[in-house]
Amino acid sequence: MLILLCTSSADSDKYVLENIHGRTSIRNYSDDPVPDEKIRELLRAAMAAPSSRNVQPWLFYIVKDREKLDRLAAGLPYAKMLGHAQLAIVVCGDTGKGSPNEEQKMNWVMDCSAATQNLLLAAHALGLGAVWTGVYPYAERMHVVRETLQIPDHVIPLNVIPIGYPAEYPTPKDKWNPENIVSGFDAKAD
Ligand SMILES: Cc1cc2nc3c(=O)[nH]c(=O)nc-3n(C[C@H](O)[C@H](O)[C@H](O)COP(=O)(O)O)c2cc1C
Repeated sequence: MLILLCTSSADSDKYVLENIHGRTSIRNYSDDPVPDEKIRELLRAAMAAPSSRNVQPWLFYIVKDREKLDRLAAGLPYAKMLGHAQLAIVVCGDTGKGSPNEEQKMNWVMDCSAATQNLLLAAHALGLGAVWTGVYPYAERMHVVRETLQIPDHVIPLNVIPIGYPAEYPTPKDKWNPENIVSGFDAKAD
């Protein structure tokens, strides 16, 4: 007998949309450590992202070591919040995965960005705060991350995501802007 399980419902649709619209970058965290079960959930969400040809070129470095977090904070100009975060996840692209041709060479950036957004949304859903801090394509920042985490040359750090329990609750920005819609839809009609 075939049993079809329908997981979609008005409630879960509403919850997913609320999660998307409720997420905002969090840059202040409490001192409470993030438990491993939550880190696993974050990584599962990240790895559920779409990727070109399903290559899944992502690699994740989990950083809990205080000295490494402080080194990253010192070396990355816009990631000083790492100095008081208990955890960071560094999302990297493995450029060797999937034998990309010349046209496919940059797909890791899109793939790892999709994984990052999944991770940020999962963090929000789990009651955690996080922020994408940019590393790629800045040579200096990539050097700092590579040196700190001993990342090999074929692996490129895209970003560093400090994560923790929020110690601030900023209002999510309303970014809805009909002017961003070029054609085919009357965004002004309700
Ligand atoms: C590619 C990228 C790089 C970013 N780099 C930084 C960064 O280095 N430091 C930082 O504090 N925020 C960084 N952010 C977060 C943005 O500032 C933030 O997403 C934006 O202001 C919108 O705010 P929101 O995330 O709360 O919606 C980055 C975001 C992206 C997508």
